[in-house]
Amino acid sequence: MSSSTHHTIGVVGAGTMGRGIVQLFVQAGHRICCFDAADGAAAKAIDFVTDMLQRQVAKGRLTGHDVERLRARMQASTQMSELADCDIVIEAIVEDLAVKQQLYRALEDVVAPTAILASNTSSLTVADIAAACSRPERVAGLHFFNPVPLMKVAEVIAAVRTSAATTETLRALVEGAGHRAVVTADQPGFLVNHAGRGLYTEGLRIVEEQVASPAEVDDILREAAGFRMGPFELLDLTGLDVSSKVMASIYEQFQHEPRFRPSSLVAPRVAAGLFGRKSGAGWYAYDGDRKLRDA
Ligand code: NAI
Repeated sequence: MSSSTHHTIGVVGAGTMGRGIVQLFVQAGHRICCFDAADGAAAKAIDFVTDMLQRQVAKGRLTGHDVERLRARMQASTQMSELADCDIVIEAIVEDLAVKQQLYRALEDVVAPTAILASNTSSLTVADIAAACSRPERVAGLHFFNPVPLMKVAEVIAAVRTSAATTETLRALVEGAGHRAVVTADQPGFLVNHAGRGLYTEGLRIVEEQVASPAEVDDILREAAGFRMGPFELLDLTGLDVSSKVMASIYEQFQHEPRFRPSSLVAPRVAAGLFGRKSGAGWYAYDGDRKLRDA
């Protein structure tokens, strides 16, 4: 399938990630059907995306006419049955295996047997999600990063039973939208969150062992090692509440391999609500998005 193929894409889960996925693919020329279990959430997501498109008019990147055209290609669905015409469904609902499995069972009753079902899961095993399906060969992971339109990479995760055709269609879909697609195996953390362990886990160990402060680690990695942000700045951006779950999940999935053991510095900070930017303080203190100083 060529990257210029236009699909009707179902986006299930209209939260932070679902909204970004809607925006990315409507701008890439696809039709979007957005569904969320919460009342009014899908419509709100389409309004949000339309707002984001309007901002591009102000910057001269789109015209008002473009926005109208794109708006007409996005539909908010109140019933899952409205996804029947979708040839690709991207799921971005809550990170809970049982809830996801239940959704996939219901989706298989709605979509065509050839439709692809892709999960934006950040830490679950894709094979576990696919195990709920009667056609696991059409199930894969499609892991975007927040904010989706700006983070120009997505992991296409091929689970053990994912067909080569499914992987290839998703790879072409991502690249057709101008993002880089990285095809990875269905292993803990896939590529990005596995590689990230080296950065976060060792960064945290350095602080735990009082070798240096978080700000010193960040400064050195930015200034001397060429990173755009240091690990503590990144943890504050993602939110330690979210990152701590990824740390725990990867440690668990690697059968408690010591090199993935979450730092003892993390749990007390999560309990204290020091999540990062979203809570106003983490490794640094914030005024909105502006970093003030070490917390
Ligand atoms: P969110 O909480 O912002 O949005 C989830 C949405 O799914 C909500 O609107 C909720 O009403 C809806 N939902 C829940 N259960 C549903 C169901 N059974 N059927 C239909 N809709 C349902 O979550 P967020 O942050 O967008 O995450 C979604 C997925 O993306 C998760 O699997 C998460 O691990 C993954 N992810 C999140 C990233 C992030 O930075 N937030 C980054 C990469 C992946």
